[in-house]
Amino acid sequence: MDDLRTPSTHDHHRHHSPLSRRQFTAVAGTTTAAAALGLSAADATALAPAGPVSAPRSTADWKMCLAVARALLVVDEDGRPLVPGYKKILGSGLPAVRGKAAKKVLVVGAGPAGLVAAWLLKRAGHKVTLLEANGNRVGGRIKTFRTGGHEGAAQPFADALQYAEAGAMRIPGSHPLVMSLIDGLDVKKRRFHLVDVDGEGKPVNNAWLHVNGVRVRRSDYARNPRRINRSFGVPRKHWDTPSSTILRRALDPVRDEFSTAGSDGKRTDKPMPERIRGWARVIQKYGDWSMYRFLTEEAGFDERTLDLVGTLENLTSRLPLSFVHSFISQSLISPDTEFWELVGGTAVLPDALLDKVRDVLRLDRRATRIEYWDPERPGSDDTAHVRAGGPHVWIDTVSEGRDGKVVREQFTGDLAIVTVPFSGLRQVQVSPLMSYGKRRAVAELHYDSATKVLLEFSRRWWEFTEADWKRELNAVRPGLYEEYRAGKAPDDGSLLGVHPSVPAGHITPGQRVHYAANRWATRDQPEAAHIIGGGSVSDNSNRFMINPSHPVDGSKGGVVLASYSWADDASRWDSLDEDARYPHALRGLQQVYGQRVEVFYTGAGRTQSWLRDPYAYGEASVLLPGQHTELLAAIRSSEGPLRFAGDHTSVKPSWIEGALESGVRAALEVHQG
Ligand code: FAD
Ligand code: ARG
Repeated sequence: MDDLRTPSTHDHHRHHSPLSRRQFTAVAGTTTAAAALGLSAADATALAPAGPVSAPRSTADWKMCLAVARALLVVDEDGRPLVPGYKKILGSGLPAVRGKAAKKVLVVGAGPAGLVAAWLLKRAGHKVTLLEANGNRVGGRIKTFRTGGHEGAAQPFADALQYAEAGAMRIPGSHPLVMSLIDGLDVKKRRFHLVDVDGEGKPVNNAWLHVNGVRVRRSDYARNPRRINRSFGVPRKHWDTPSSTILRRALDPVRDEFSTAGSDGKRTDKPMPERIRGWARVIQKYGDWSMYRFLTEEAGFDERTLDLVGTLENLTSRLPLSFVHSFISQSLISPDTEFWELVGGTAVLPDALLDKVRDVLRLDRRATRIEYWDPERPGSDDTAHVRAGGPHVWIDTVSEGRDGKVVREQFTGDLAIVTVPFSGLRQVQVSPLMSYGKRRAVAELHYDSATKVLLEFSRRWWEFTEADWKRELNAVRPGLYEEYRAGKAPDDGSLLGVHPSVPAGHITPGQRVHYAANRWATRDQPEAAHIIGGGSVSDNSNRFMINPSHPVDGSKGGVVLASYSWADDASRWDSLDEDARYPHALRGLQQVYGQRVEVFYTGAGRTQSWLRDPYAYGEASVLLPGQHTELLAAIRSSEGPLRFAGDHTSVKPSWIEGALESGVRAALEVHQG
């Protein structure tokens, strides 16, 4: 702690207590940090060139803030929206090239960014090779666990018809490029229910909130938040306000910078030049801030209110990360957003793109080394070959060696589009050295973790009424329904998957042992959830539990996203082995929905840890405070004949839309350059 203090304050503040975890995460040259470090107000001002809290300032200059705002709004230097043009290109392609204008282009990575860039360039007449590290699938972080899918002919769940998302699952209707691509490729979509609905598709919001040992339906919480709010110990002024409203009120002044609220509370974006300036002001004020700092210093949250809002609104695990990032995703993942999903799984989108580029795709080719020639760059190998008009980019690749033999192959091109996430590019040698800014961005861009734990059930029990439960449980054995209701059913694992609809052979002996060893103590049985889609929130390690929005045709079962977690919450799952992880995830569901769900558990679980994925190296570039202004320009700039795409080069990381924006932009750069 001492090293963090300025020398002048060292002595007379020695008595201050050490930093708490929260205080520590906020240390980024802030006044809160200063207080946490035991500095006086005057010291704090000296430490924070940013100025007083009421008028916070980022260290970034206004020009950079405007540039980030333009990138965020996807407008050009003059503030003209780029998306209409991008949409047109996605629909009808780039203008065709003829003869000598055709370029030999290497595209590295067949996620949505690379697939789209390769397709557009190929269609225009360029000679494209699309290199993908994965030996058996394209799509990157769009990945569906499905029979005959990425795992070859393997069947991920007991029911061959079932499928579930390892990565992208919900597509905001407000994302124009991905929506138009879906329609343009004739991919079938339907609503994704962020909020659970009734049989008519009307939102009812009846999923559970389960925190501090209290279980309440979301709709009841919205009407009467006191019980839950008091369970966090929030001050009296927050007793009767739902967490989403507390958060909305805290964030609304930020929204006022670029939009206006109507009398009905609906927001309208300000017209263009002012909208850009508004966002630039947000970036200038808060670009260097974490969400933690904003909620404590600017919104004045006390620790308990922060806990309440963080737990229910999914902010806790990312409080130390960029305010701007969380602010944007918070505004998007909200009941006001209309979400869509793809019938058959999100992977049908890369499937459709694959059809367009199959002839130029090389699966099982992981780029390990990129060499390029750039006359401007010292160290470029100015060989006769290059001067004679030969290739400017050389890419070495290696195969996965799934069938035993690891092969190497080199590819050459005039230009390359690199879509590899920077977390992975860090391990790829690039020669000659790229610019300092780019190397720093590759080294420092923060990637967060995300893990999804999926459990299969032979019936969609979350849709059941109490009468359905009674019928189904008593079909297992008379009286079982009452035993569960009384908390008297055996909890030794003997009831796992006992419903006659559960196919044998998937629950391992190891799962049974872990189940019994970790069984849940309280065993209270809430009423039937009786919801379609939507999801519950808990402070247990599952955190966010999401139900499928629709049945799978021909199947009575369903796969529940038993845990969708980020950051540290995700790592907690990564450390467990499979036999332990699924019983743990089941127990978390039971704490929320009751023990009886176990009778439908098939024993088939699937896990996707994106941090441990060999080609994603993390969920997405969820930035640290300050990285938007520090790194964005360098992230997307070219290096000689290298162009860069991928969602991390957009201001929409963790969204397919960002990947598509970048894919079209990079294709244009190659085509026009
Ligand atoms: P990627 O999809 O990561 O593709 C990069 C490709 O490069 C991969 O195929 C990879 O195998 C390949 N590659 C990597 N290294 C090499 C190498 N050295 N050589 C050759 N190839 C290489 N988006 C939404 O819109 N809605 C959602 O609901 C949603 N949910 C998500 C949930 C999770 C858990 C995650 C992880 C992501 C989610 N996303 C969602 C985000 C979306 O999946 C990504 O934004 C998108 O896939 C990014 O596309 P990309 O092409 O930039 O990168
Ligand atoms: N797109 C992903 C989802 O729908 C993640 C969104 C937020 N991501 C984030 N890193 N905050 O769940």
